[in-house]
Amino acid sequence: MPFSILPLHLLSLAFVVVTIFLADREAFAWIRGRKITLDAVRVGKLHRRMWLGLLFMIATGLLMAWENFGALFAFPLFRLKMFFVAALIINGLFIGKLMYVTAVRSYSSLSTQEKIPLFLAGAISAISWLGAAGSALLLFGL
Ligand code: HEM
Repeated sequence: MPFSILPLHLLSLAFVVVTIFLADREAFAWIRGRKITLDAVRVGKLHRRMWLGLLFMIATGLLMAWENFGALFAFPLFRLKMFFVAALIINGLFIGKLMYVTAVRSYSSLSTQEKIPLFLAGAISAISWLGAAGSALLLFGL
């Protein structure tokens, strides 16, 4: 490869971290009741930005891993990383279905049963981003 892809991979990660911060700020304002409902257009925009960041991570990661994918896959930490990436894709599809409740209902009006999927999706997202980045750092970095 004529140039290094790793900076683009890490730049995509920085883009994702900023987007997570902006999305969490909206989510916490809704949970605390500072915002009764959220703007559906803004929520949709942040969600699409998350997909863009994740797809860039996957594309740049695949470009780096392409030639040695088989050898890399022999490392349990790499398999763990791919597991977290798969979890992010599936969870992202669920979040796309769940998130618009924030535009039509207040958090306090939701029953516990209605809140559970939202918390699960948030927890899976946080664990998977940290897990994917953490396993990469353990495998390639630290
Ligand atoms: C959620 C998605 C991802 C996150 C958060 C992530 C995170 C990272 C981080 C933090 C590093 C730098 C490690 C270091 O050198 O200190 C890294 C490197 C790397 N990632 Fe990812 N990654 C993701 C997706 C992927 C995917 C889907 C692939 C491949 C299919 C991949 C392949 C690689 C490879 C091969 C390196 C090592 C590059 C090198 O050192 O030359 N990554 N990743």
